[in-house]
Amino acid sequence: MSTHHELDTLRATLNRALDDLRAELDAMQLPPLSTTSKERHPLDDPNYLPSRKLYHSRGLALGGYSVHKSSQKAHNVRWDLFQACMGQLKSLIQNPFDHAVEQSYAVFETAAIESFVQTGIVDVLAGSPDGVHVTDVQQHLDLSSTRCLTILRYLTTHGWVRECKEGTFALNRPALALLEGNSARSWIAFSHKPQIAMALVPWLQHKEWRHSSSHVETAFQISHSTELSYFDWMKQNPEYMRMFSIGMQSLGASHTQGIVADFPWHELETPTVVDIGGGNGSLAATVSKHYPHLRFIVQDRPPVVDQANKHLLSVAKDAYEAGRITAEPYDFFLPQPHTGDEYSFMFRHVLHDWPHDKAVSILRTVARAAGQKSKILIIERISALGRYPSYSCLPEAPKSPLITNGYKQERYTPFIPENLGAASRVTHAITLYLMSILNAHERTVTEWTALIEEAGLRVVKVHALRSPLSLIECAVMA
Ligand SMILES: C[S@@+](CC[C@H](N)C(=O)[O-])C[C@H]1O[C@@H](n2cnc3c(N)ncnc32)[C@H](O)[C@@H]1O
Repeated sequence: MSTHHELDTLRATLNRALDDLRAELDAMQLPPLSTTSKERHPLDDPNYLPSRKLYHSRGLALGGYSVHKSSQKAHNVRWDLFQACMGQLKSLIQNPFDHAVEQSYAVFETAAIESFVQTGIVDVLAGSPDGVHVTDVQQHLDLSSTRCLTILRYLTTHGWVRECKEGTFALNRPALALLEGNSARSWIAFSHKPQIAMALVPWLQHKEWRHSSSHVETAFQISHSTELSYFDWMKQNPEYMRMFSIGMQSLGASHTQGIVADFPWHELETPTVVDIGGGNGSLAATVSKHYPHLRFIVQDRPPVVDQANKHLLSVAKDAYEAGRITAEPYDFFLPQPHTGDEYSFMFRHVLHDWPHDKAVSILRTVARAAGQKSKILIIERISALGRYPSYSCLPEAPKSPLITNGYKQERYTPFIPENLGAASRVTHAITLYLMSILNAHERTVTEWTALIEEAGLRVVKVHALRSPLSLIECAVMA
């Protein structure tokens, strides 16, 4: 073992990951990556679906299945390994004081990108690919050029823009994803996170609420000075609700290709899938396009069902008109009207909104309705542990499947935590967010198993998807 074992191992892992990326680009005949390219790269598409074993989602929107199949021959690029290695190298090397200072300013990362998108600076820059001087930004938008300069220079440190000459900025390739019509734009428009995040400390130390598990005693109520629950508050703020729906749609859409490609839908023995809390039905619509022999029923609260009917008519007209996909109002705390062997049930991004007892009660309702042939499909992010296998567990084999960001680790990677560190930061940020607004959280495989069994179901298999989500296939107890 060399003296610099950890540093050398991480460097070698990063190099291997970069070599794999290069090989994948060649195998897929993709153009070289360039920060300053004026066009989006195929890999920038949230629907790009990379090779199979590797990391995950980003399905091929345009190619759909055929490209997915050919990509199986391609190399095994681990997108998450890049982030994980870079995160580990950073914490290995960076001065801890600098790290603390950097993290304390992180709230300005959110503020800067929201300013960039919501004030329209990104659109002004998009109009002139070779660069726009901040005084021209001022003219276009009536914003202070000095403030724009400070924001834009900050954004150069995140790679969104470059400074072509002093005070003149141009969009880098990644920023093209922030233009109108792209899901990253919709996501950024769905704002308000810093406000809630800043209520975390007072909430943790709140005299009465510090141990509460109520969904109306959270950081959200503190930050928004309201007694209403997050969802009830949203009902009274329709503009926020609209942004929420668009944000959720964009997030959901970016995960859909992996769900379609990596679960064996053709093996379902039931002709109908009930999508409980199915929102506007976009997941059901996409799966139904690939598996026309399946019927789908989208269930949700009445106002959402109205939106679902409109959405389904526009995105899945044939299936909708043929009655292969329908939407109906349903409250998932009441008995499920569809029972027996004809039905399977799915939940995506639903159970993570609810604390343990409520989630058990939602699942129990399904357990009572399901037949022996029914499958219950739970599609969620799965939290993994932050322990370092390199020190404690190697070469011991994992006792339960290790699912991280939807990727099943076939073997441990030394010096990278099981949750892949920086690569799972979003999953852990989402769980902080859910905790702060609903007293809910993302769960580990162990937590999911306990919850599922308490509801009278059993886990059949956890499917790793090319998506940050995993699919937990369940059935009724034998
Ligand atoms: C985060 S969204 C997920 C939507 C959809 N499954 C997706 O992946 O896009 C949660 C959904 O649960 C629905 N929901 C909340 N409470 C419900 C209830 N009591 N009965 C039925 N649906 C409910 C919401 O209206 C919302 O559409």
